[in-house]
Amino acid sequence: MKILIVGGGGREHAIAWALSKSARVTEIVAAPGNAGMAQVARCVPAKQDVLADLMRVAEQEQPDLTIVGPEVPLALGMVDALNAKGMRAFGPTKAAAQLESSKSFAKDFMERHKIPTARYRTCSSVEDVRRALADFGDADAPVVVKADGLAAGKGVVIAANHAEAIKAAEGIFSGTLLGKGEATLVLEEFLEGPEVSFFALCDGTHAVALAAAQDHKRIGEGDTGPNTGGMGTYCTDTLITPEMRTWMTKQVAQKVVDGMREEGTPFKGILFCGMMMTARGPMVLEFNTRWGDPETQSIMMRLESDALELFEAAVEGKAQSLQLKWKPGASACVIVASGGYPGKHKTGLPIRGMGEPFPADVQVFHSGTALRDGEVVTAGGRVLGVTAAADDLRSALAKAYEALGEISFEGMQFRRDIGHRAL
Ligand code: AMP
Ligand code: GLY
Repeated sequence: MKILIVGGGGREHAIAWALSKSARVTEIVAAPGNAGMAQVARCVPAKQDVLADLMRVAEQEQPDLTIVGPEVPLALGMVDALNAKGMRAFGPTKAAAQLESSKSFAKDFMERHKIPTARYRTCSSVEDVRRALADFGDADAPVVVKADGLAAGKGVVIAANHAEAIKAAEGIFSGTLLGKGEATLVLEEFLEGPEVSFFALCDGTHAVALAAAQDHKRIGEGDTGPNTGGMGTYCTDTLITPEMRTWMTKQVAQKVVDGMREEGTPFKGILFCGMMMTARGPMVLEFNTRWGDPETQSIMMRLESDALELFEAAVEGKAQSLQLKWKPGASACVIVASGGYPGKHKTGLPIRGMGEPFPADVQVFHSGTALRDGEVVTAGGRVLGVTAAADDLRSALAKAYEALGEISFEGMQFRRDIGHRAL
């Protein structure tokens, strides 16, 4: 079977690696891919945010299955476009991807279907925000301001008080915060508690729980400094109890699938539920309609079943009969980022130590890399995800950090405390 993977980050590299182990996969094409994916896939240049360009590749390659990795091509309707050509695709349609591409859509949907989430108000002007804030109580208490659309992780402001919330709202509407103005924002009650990322595989009718993973979003050790796309993850069975897994599957993921089907926009693909475990019970912070990056790196590291079965089950409506096998123990992924990330950073820097053979239970997934005259160079903010699996989290982390010790490039940074809270 020939597979086309859309995207070129660590998530897509992990998916490509997992599929490369399947006996039924004969060829993998990546659009655009990266230097690491080139070891298991043929990389074809493509603009990830231009639907016509991605469809040009799909029509040229005629894959048996296309897996759309990132949120932007999903929100552009790539799955709809592929289906319209009679091609099989993994991921939600444009309408179903609204659960991620529009925060107000997601909040209204959760309200309609009684899915636990923070109290909220949708606003379309600063005046609206001022009026809505009156319903949020104490003007000196924190409140959360979220741009409605996709914002590559930059659209959420935790305002310390109402005055800051108004400032954030002005920035979101005017475009000074995100580079382009937004017409709508969501004002949300501030929640407190530990966060967990819960992943469900959905086939339009059923939601099936996958392994849970925990991300570290802040750049600095001890969870300090600005938010990033994610600086590391770990995946263990003890992250959530079996009872909590059942609860989240029933009360969140299955309710989403049922609600979307009822509304005529069935949801297929990965539902990534960002949850906060509050004193009032677990609440949804956000939905993503795709695999997480770097959560996927640690999840794929523990998947023992044929990854193709997982993807096909969602496409073919067979998620419920899927019997997935997971490697017992734990896995961890440590992101190696460019100096300066998440702000300005250099690219094109040679990466040393990549020629080393790493141990079998270590995989170095590429995020922002490119090949220059046969040499691997940096090409983005997040550069590599050094990922390891072992019998327990402590050993998985030790293995990942040991492998990371072989790798170096000018200015590289990584967090030394991935998984610390679970140890
Ligand atoms: P999101 O993009 O919605 O996941 O938000 C990014 C991060 O902002 C989350 O991972 C949380 O740490 C934080 N966050 C989002 N919504 C809330 C909320 N209602 N209360 C507190 N923190 C939040
Ligand atoms: N790691 C968070 C995300 O993929 O959005």
